[in-house]
Amino acid sequence: MARRKLVVGNWKMHGVGADVAEIRAIADAAARAPEVDVGLCIPATLIERAVRAVPGFSIGAQDVHFLDRGAHTGCTSAEMIADAGGSIVIVGHSERRDAQKESDEEVRSKSEAGLRAGLLVILCVGESLPVREAGDALPTVLRQLQASLPRETDLAGLAIAYEPIWAIGTGKTATIDDVDEMHSAIRKQLTDRCGDAGGGIRILYGGSVKPNNAADIFSVTDVDGALVGGASLKASDFIPIIEAAALKA
Ligand code: PGA
Repeated sequence: MARRKLVVGNWKMHGVGADVAEIRAIADAAARAPEVDVGLCIPATLIERAVRAVPGFSIGAQDVHFLDRGAHTGCTSAEMIADAGGSIVIVGHSERRDAQKESDEEVRSKSEAGLRAGLLVILCVGESLPVREAGDALPTVLRQLQASLPRETDLAGLAIAYEPIWAIGTGKTATIDDVDEMHSAIRKQLTDRCGDAGGGIRILYGGSVKPNNAADIFSVTDVDGALVGGASLKASDFIPIIEAAALKA
C-alpha cells in the first residue's frame, strides 16, 4: 500500500515567539515538497501563534491528557490542542515515559484521546540500551506497541514512531538492518491487528536523524518518514531531511 512520507519535528522544550521565523522557513520548504507531509510539534504556548503565522502548515503538540477536561492542573486536552489549531500530537515519547513514568495503558488512553479529537497521533515506542544489548529489543518494542495501541478499530489517524532510546539526542542511530528488522516486525503487528488497513499506517524512525543519514534511513522499505528532534530546530538542518524524504516519495 502506498504511503506518503511523513516528516515531523519535535521541538521539545524549545520555542518562543522569536522562533516563529524558523517555523515559517520550514513551512515554506514544506510547500516546495508537496509529495511529503511535514509537521512541527512545538510547545503548547506557541501553537496558536505558529498556526496564525503559517496557515495550512501542520502544527502539533508533544503530549496530551487522556481526558477531555477536568481538574488536572497544568494539563492540556486534545480538544484544546485542536481548538488552538493544532493537528498532530505525539504520545508516549520516551522522555515522558521515563520522566513522567507514563505507562503503556496511559499512552493508549492518550492515543485514543488524540484520535477522538481528530488529531494525527504519533505513538512512540522504543527500547533502552540494556534491552537492545540483551537481545530483547524486538519482543520489548512489540509488547509496548501492543499495550499502547488505541482500542479503536479505525486507526487511520495513527502513525507509529520507532525511537530507540539510546539513539535519541546521542548522535547514534540504529543500523539500517536493525531499523529494517524492527519496522518490518511493527508492520506485521499492525497488519495482524488491522488487516489491510495496517498496511496504510505510517511507521516513522526517530533518534538522531540528521541531513547526512536521512536518505539511507528513508530507503528502508517500511520507514515512512522520521520524527526529528535536534535537527528540526533549525530550518537549515531540517529542510535537507524534508528534501531527502521527497526524493524517496
Ligand atoms: P533527536 O530526537 O532527533 O534529537 O535524537 C528525536 C526525538 O526525541 O523524537
